[in-house]
Amino acid sequence: MSIPRIPPRDVTLPLLADPYRFVSKESARLGSDAFQTRLLCRGTTCLKGEKGAALFYDAERFRREGAMPSPIRKTLLGEGGVQGLDGEAHRHRKAIFMGLTQADRVRALGARVEAEWIEAAERWLRAGATIRLYDELATMLTRAVCAWSETPLPEADVQLRAGHLRALFDAAGARNPRHFWSRHARRRVDRWLKGVIEDVREGRHRPAENTATFALAHARDPGGTPLAAEVAAVELANILRPTVATAVYVVFLAHALHTQPEAARAATQSLAARDAFIEEIRRFYPFFPSLVATTRRDFVWEGLSFPEGRQVILDLYGTNHDANAWPDPEIFRPARFANRPPGAFDFVPQGGGDHLTGHRCPGEGIVHEILMRSFDVLTTRLRYEVPKQDLRLNLRRLPALPRSGFFLRPLDLAR
Ligand code: HEM
Repeated sequence: MSIPRIPPRDVTLPLLADPYRFVSKESARLGSDAFQTRLLCRGTTCLKGEKGAALFYDAERFRREGAMPSPIRKTLLGEGGVQGLDGEAHRHRKAIFMGLTQADRVRALGARVEAEWIEAAERWLRAGATIRLYDELATMLTRAVCAWSETPLPEADVQLRAGHLRALFDAAGARNPRHFWSRHARRRVDRWLKGVIEDVREGRHRPAENTATFALAHARDPGGTPLAAEVAAVELANILRPTVATAVYVVFLAHALHTQPEAARAATQSLAARDAFIEEIRRFYPFFPSLVATTRRDFVWEGLSFPEGRQVILDLYGTNHDANAWPDPEIFRPARFANRPPGAFDFVPQGGGDHLTGHRCPGEGIVHEILMRSFDVLTTRLRYEVPKQDLRLNLRRLPALPRSGFFLRPLDLAR
């Protein structure tokens, strides 16, 4: 059987105009979680839901090499990184990331993030200022992750580097000249981090052995050849950039604490309730809309035929909002996680499947840690007011954010 097809027009523009909901809307219209279309001038199959996600992560049927569109490689991801590897080359590279995100290292990063929160809050209180949380977090997280990874960051460069790291994820998906700001930022970040890698290799910078800077400077490919400095730099950016991007989730956390007061109160009652609140933030709020891979060969799945070389999109946001797995998906309800631990393919805010053997994000522990520390600061240490502002989420932006960026006025800090 062939897969349902929407009219043979290219959907690149409509998809970019509504990046989180386009696939779900078309699926609902066709009554199918899989449909065919054209995207970026290529025949494309869109998948959504738990079954579709399980298929997408079948590495026998799909490859990632060359799958990601060039505008994303030239901004968000960089060239030559782990995202575009397959098979043994992928497993070998991925093991480095898994080593860098062990529990004790994640806690050490969390402690630095918490210290940044306290220092920043004291500064805000001294200045008596109302702050835009999204802007402040970019600097706080840049300082924290650079210190933790032992990536040198002179004080005079903090704003510059934070601005570039943020542009990689915040401007990459823009449909206006801001996209070119992201390309510029990619060149600047790659050059900066290549310099750091060379400094480590030539002994001018001596980071501790358990740090990302050390591990990536000394990383080799499966054949034992050291990674090209450019590639090691892209991988170091693969740690720094997404850690700074966690700012988006922290803004969502502040948004949920403010707009869901009952759920927020319940979340302060136990650690399990807090963790459920954090999981619901990752399920409910829109961050990464979708992923792309290419079929390795012809195959038939659930009676539907996939030809070799087909571009396939997995709708992450739609899968997290699939009513078959998540009843009342548009309601923010942390309690849903109390009796129902998420599966490997129905809860995919940071990808699905297995961390080590597949492409699932190795940073889930880091994201949880940063959200947990931020939750504790925002609920027990920092007293603040939320001024009147436009808190509606802009689902046409990548990443979606509250339109205001979340302003808050600090009142007091418990030491
Ligand atoms: C991969 C989301 C934080 C490092 C991914 C993927 C998603 C994702 C959707 C793709 C999975 C796939 O291709 O199947 C997020 C979100 C984050 C976040 C929404 C919140 C800010 C982090 C952090 C790190 C990180 C803190 C730092 C270690 C990576 C790497 C990959 C990845 C290296 C590529 C993995 C691979 O291809 O095997 N992430 N991530 N991410 N993430 Fe994250």
